Amino acid sequence: MKIGLLVGREDTFPQEFIDRVNNKAVDGITAEMVKIGGTRLDQEVPYAVIVDRMSHEVPYYRIFLKKAVADGAVVINNPFWFSADDKFIECVLAERLGVAVPKTVILPNKTYEADIIRESLRNLEYPMPWEGIAEYVGMPAVIKPAVGGGWRNVTIVHSLEELIAAFDTSGVLPMIVQEFIRFENYSRCFVIGREHVLISKYDPSRSHFERYRPGDTGLSPELHDRINGDCLTLNRALGYDMNTVEFAIRDGIPYAIDFFNPAPDMDRNSITPDNFEWVVENMANLAISYATGERKAEPEPNWHAMLRAGRA
Ligand SMILES: Nc1ncnc2c1ncn2[C@@H]1O[C@H](COP(=O)(O)OP(=O)(O)OP(=O)(O)O)[C@@H](O)[C@H]1O
Ligand SMILES: [Mg+2]
Repeated sequence: MKIGLLVGREDTFPQEFIDRVNNKAVDGITAEMVKIGGTRLDQEVPYAVIVDRMSHEVPYYRIFLKKAVADGAVVINNPFWFSADDKFIECVLAERLGVAVPKTVILPNKTYEADIIRESLRNLEYPMPWEGIAEYVGMPAVIKPAVGGGWRNVTIVHSLEELIAAFDTSGVLPMIVQEFIRFENYSRCFVIGREHVLISKYDPSRSHFERYRPGDTGLSPELHDRINGDCLTLNRALGYDMNTVEFAIRDGIPYAIDFFNPAPDMDRNSITPDNFEWVVENMANLAISYATGERKAEPEPNWHAMLRAGRA
């Protein structure tokens, strides 16, 4: 049984993960980099498990992974839901599940790639009801892509003018506008296998390589338990086996800020060596347990039922 890895430019996690799996010397289980170049309909994908860290940027990988699922592979993370997910519907789901989230609005995009003329957009209100949006989320606010990562196109705005100016630079990206949570503490959590949670203190005001703070999380035991529970609730609902979840804590309430990180940063240099060790070990164990069959791929979460829970 082979475990395959699809990776991007990162260079600490991949080899460490492959070595960890292979060094465990579990009978019949090996790990390697996936190698593909055009996938035929009649070509069976030879992996029992694939860990996907790159299909969000290489569309061919996503399509290949869906074929791999058809051939019986367990893909971490589920490529079907990864394709459908976005930060707005995640907030909707979180609210239904009792996880606190900031007030959030999804906007129509600023521009379009296709041949769009005035008549193509006749369902859209014009001008946009900016005052109402700004009043709902309050100021400061955050405007960021509904699907995005690496802090790209994330802007904190302090006025209606700044909000519109940021929107004007967003191009074809669908954006969300969100209440800015003025936090007294901030956590970022690794959640592996919908089961294992590692909570770290996180300081967004620092540079990329200094945000994960080693040592104490600064959370009370109650808050720690609530965050741990919220991480499991969200990831069991979303069906992600590999994710990070961020919380901004305001007045003792943890607001989930970003829990759409299905190929999260796992670089030793940014997440700290201790977190890196935990992540490599938990990822290796998870992949092995799927490959041996000890753990079965979970059925798809029932999104419809979940989103409609409590509705007539
Ligand atoms: N509603 C909010 N309230 C307070 N801070 C926020 C909010 N939304 C985003 N931020 C800040 O902006 C940062 C980036 O936002 P977000 O995590 O959604 O973007 P991302 O591109 O997915 O980043 P990453 O690659 O780290 O996952 C957060 O770490 C947080 O510090
Ligand atoms: Mg993110």
